[in-house]
Amino acid sequence: MVKMQSSLFVATILFLVIFSPENTSAQTREAIAVKAPNPELASDVINRKVDALLEKMTLEEKVGQMVQYPPGNGVVGPQTQRQDFDAMITRGEIGALNVADRKRANAYQRSAIEKSRLHIPLIFGLDVIHGYHTIYPIPLGLAASFDPDLVAAASRLAAQEASADGIRMVNSPMVDIALDARWGRVAEGAGESTYLGSIMARAYVHGYQGRSLSDPSSVAACVKHFAAYGAAISGRDYNATDMSDITLRQVYLPPYHAAIAAGAAAVMSSFNSLNSVPETADPYTLTQILRKEWGFAGFVRSDYNAVAELMEHGIALDSASAARKAALAGLDMDMASSIYHNQLARLVRSGAVPETAIDEAVRRILRVKFALGLFDHPYVSEDTPAYQATAEKRSLARKAAEESFVLLRNEARDGRPLLPIPANVKTIALIGPLADANSQMLGTWNAKGNPDDVVSLRSALDQRMRQIGGKLLFAEGTQIVTDRDQGFDDAKQAAHNADLVIMALGEDALTMTGEAASRADLGLPGNQERLLEEIVATGKPVVLIVFSGRPLVLNWAAEHVGSILEAWFPGIEAGSALTEVLFGDAAPSGKLPVSFPRAVGQEPLYLSQFSTGRPAKDADLSRPPSGMNGKFVSRYIDVPNAPLYPFGYGLSYTTFDYSPVTLNTREVHLAQLMTEPGVGVAQPAIRASATVTNSGKVSGAETVQLYIQIRGASMVQPVRVLEGFQRVTLRPGESKRVEFPLSFDELSIINAHSQQVVEPSEYTVYVGDDSDAKQNTSFKVIN
Ligand code: BGC
Repeated sequence: MVKMQSSLFVATILFLVIFSPENTSAQTREAIAVKAPNPELASDVINRKVDALLEKMTLEEKVGQMVQYPPGNGVVGPQTQRQDFDAMITRGEIGALNVADRKRANAYQRSAIEKSRLHIPLIFGLDVIHGYHTIYPIPLGLAASFDPDLVAAASRLAAQEASADGIRMVNSPMVDIALDARWGRVAEGAGESTYLGSIMARAYVHGYQGRSLSDPSSVAACVKHFAAYGAAISGRDYNATDMSDITLRQVYLPPYHAAIAAGAAAVMSSFNSLNSVPETADPYTLTQILRKEWGFAGFVRSDYNAVAELMEHGIALDSASAARKAALAGLDMDMASSIYHNQLARLVRSGAVPETAIDEAVRRILRVKFALGLFDHPYVSEDTPAYQATAEKRSLARKAAEESFVLLRNEARDGRPLLPIPANVKTIALIGPLADANSQMLGTWNAKGNPDDVVSLRSALDQRMRQIGGKLLFAEGTQIVTDRDQGFDDAKQAAHNADLVIMALGEDALTMTGEAASRADLGLPGNQERLLEEIVATGKPVVLIVFSGRPLVLNWAAEHVGSILEAWFPGIEAGSALTEVLFGDAAPSGKLPVSFPRAVGQEPLYLSQFSTGRPAKDADLSRPPSGMNGKFVSRYIDVPNAPLYPFGYGLSYTTFDYSPVTLNTREVHLAQLMTEPGVGVAQPAIRASATVTNSGKVSGAETVQLYIQIRGASMVQPVRVLEGFQRVTLRPGESKRVEFPLSFDELSIINAHSQQVVEPSEYTVYVGDDSDAKQNTSFKVIN
């Protein structure tokens, strides 16, 4: 399991030895007095200010703090009927708005500060997911970098840009674990791994919130969507989720917890129901887990219009009941539905909702406003120059894009791999609907991203070919979604006239990925695969660049196309970063944060599946079972179990050799695991290491990955799970010893009592370049 405890919890840790009938003993730890993970939200100074202000507030003013509207920005559901924002603000009826324009923000803020009775500032929020003006790759692409420092730097810059427009809260990070590629929102998060997701969650929060929330260039991170939104049944957006408490705590909750432990000031509840309770009104997640177990002191707001949707869920017959259920569960702010605004004060007066619940919600909201320094600095300067995509910003965006690309295939032709493009290539045919599509490169949720800032693949390649005295031919070939073939002939002609073909194919970022974009077919859309087949049939070498917000089924390409590069949606530096990688100025270094399926029917497809009693390990899965042979095992009869490209996979232009994995010891006592860095003391009891060597001819970055399998515990565990990674850059011939400390957090599981424990069991440790890593060793945890 990944880290569930922040070092801020360290002082509160209690060690227990639990005896259970099935398992001889186990070590667990529990917080005895949960402290707020973000001390800025729990300071005495702030609490005193909050209490003093609360005393002066009327019931309507309190409810006003719990209301958020989207006046024209970020409308992703029914449009609110209200237009009288200024009057409502003046009456103290609004606490937050979605606005992305500094003049409008200042104007609204003036009404709050100068005209409202108590002068309480508004907080402006927006969906800033992978950049504000400077747009980076979509979060799934950023996750493929396995580079949390990069993610923190990108989020820091996003915070600076957004805060200059008055935005002090971002609806990010999205940390929903996504195991099903049909779900469109896979694009918005870090993919399938709980461990990677937790590391990335922390990096985003550190970037957004900086050293202190009170820094005017910091924004409050609103981590979302709490909880388990990514487990939507059938991968259909907004659908219900249903799972055991063990799976919830072991697979889904850790990334949210990592964000909270890193200090996230706000949380957005999710649209889905979880085990039959809509998350907008779920006391188990919003109060028990978030507040009581994790000590979260910030505020929770609903997703867009979700309080009203409690009626569609069928757990509220009218809006009064929806408001009551949400407020009592611990939902502090209602985004967009108007229901708190219209109902809450009346519910308090009738005794249906105690005023103490309202007071507590308002306290949480005001705490964040004070911590952000909004009372002291409510306005932003309107004089700062308009956004410029400076060289510095572009270079960060380019680095992010380069690190996000995953080389899936690079076959040799005439004795050498197709990529990087060799010097004798003088004419390139660039074909495909995504080759010259600036707005597509910005991906889903692109805030104030401007297509004019985007360098397309076509323009960057064209420039490069001119520089080297070569020529770029371009043909769109087809559109993203169409069955019309008119462009095929021009495309084939271009291919005939070229030494090399580059195809830019994939999904429509804006309609096929992100929210409300679930797909039941995971192939290249429209007639793109047919175009690809016809171009490959010309006999010219083909490099396929896939732009997508999710894993696609690429079986045909994987057999017939020389090189395949997964590019996600790379942001404003799309073309320049791709050109650098195609020509070998930088070697590709991304690794897959999601498994790529062979068939939609394999979904949800992910590495960390549970062990079964009938594993298919000895069966030949490449063919259907014959008779009894290979039949009665956990398998499909028509498709292998394994993904086409596994989690963690990604090639480079160089090769890396791994030494055998070694451990500092083969046995560790349970008690030793309690004296480790996560729990307070120096060296972890178990350390796995391996030496990785760049055995090729060019420099490259490698993500060394550590996986574990636990056997002999009280609960069935996954066949393999990521519990560590390190990105290293090596020159040709250079070696590096990489060490992975394994402490309580990496070794623990959730037991039948929903406790995070380490039990006496056997651990197999794999280290390698992807989740198929073969090098392994093992150790035991004993009593
Ligand atoms: C999405 C959220 C988003 C919100 C506000 C909702 O539809 O689910 O992720 O933050 O809209 O735009």
